Amino acid sequence: MADFGLFETMYSAGAIRRIRPDPVPDEIITKVLDAAIRAPSGSNAQAWTFIVVKDAAKRQQLGAIYKKASAILTVLYADAKPPPHMDQSKFDRFWRSVVHLFNHMGDAPILIVPCLKQSMWTNAASLPDDIKARMASAARLAGSSIYPAVQNIILACRAYGLGTTLTTIHAFFEDEVRQILNLPPDVQSYALMPVGYPQGKHGPVSRKPVNEVACLDGYGKPWPG
Ligand SMILES: Cc1cc2nc3c(=O)[nH]c(=O)nc-3n(C[C@H](O)[C@H](O)[C@H](O)COP(=O)(O)O)c2cc1C
Repeated sequence: MADFGLFETMYSAGAIRRIRPDPVPDEIITKVLDAAIRAPSGSNAQAWTFIVVKDAAKRQQLGAIYKKASAILTVLYADAKPPPHMDQSKFDRFWRSVVHLFNHMGDAPILIVPCLKQSMWTNAASLPDDIKARMASAARLAGSSIYPAVQNIILACRAYGLGTTLTTIHAFFEDEVRQILNLPPDVQSYALMPVGYPQGKHGPVSRKPVNEVACLDGYGKPWPG
């Protein structure tokens, strides 16, 4: 493992979509997962399961689902313009790498599918109606007990010289994913992450500056830093 500091790792852990087929040692994947499970989860429930897909046939099946889902994403992006912080050539480069992954998800030597068991709270049919209504309004928080672990996977991959990308469009065909991975009814998948050694290099991650995205004391007043 390269001796990266935390900030150096964060600042260079960009999405890697072009991945070499070379195998990744199980010990490294175990270490990546050991980093994942250091993440916080609501009530420290740790109701997660990380499915590591090595089987070539299953990877190809998941890759085919990703490809099918990409047709939907392509429709959504049909008239997409680059966001203000991205020029056209950068956007075109981004989209080319996205399309590359559409066609090669199943060729990554490892796919990691982070899953989460449905929360005990959303199962509580016996709760009073007003509490149930409040819980329903918080449904968008469903992934908050798994995405910190997903970010740890991204960072640990970077630290071990591996590339990965957080993708979610497989969820358009969640039923098919459930079948391939044998997911129990109360377990849902939250990401499909190709993992392997990058074809290129990790580059610096560029973002909008802090003072454009952070506010002081309420929405609208920019953080002065
Ligand atoms: C919720 C979420 C869903 C994403 N889904 C996809 C996806 O389906 N396909 C893909 O190639 N990248 C996907 N990404 C990766 C983003 O495109 C990427 O994080 C963003 O462009 C920043 O890239 P960078 O870190 O290389 O600058 C997703 C990221 C997030 C956070």
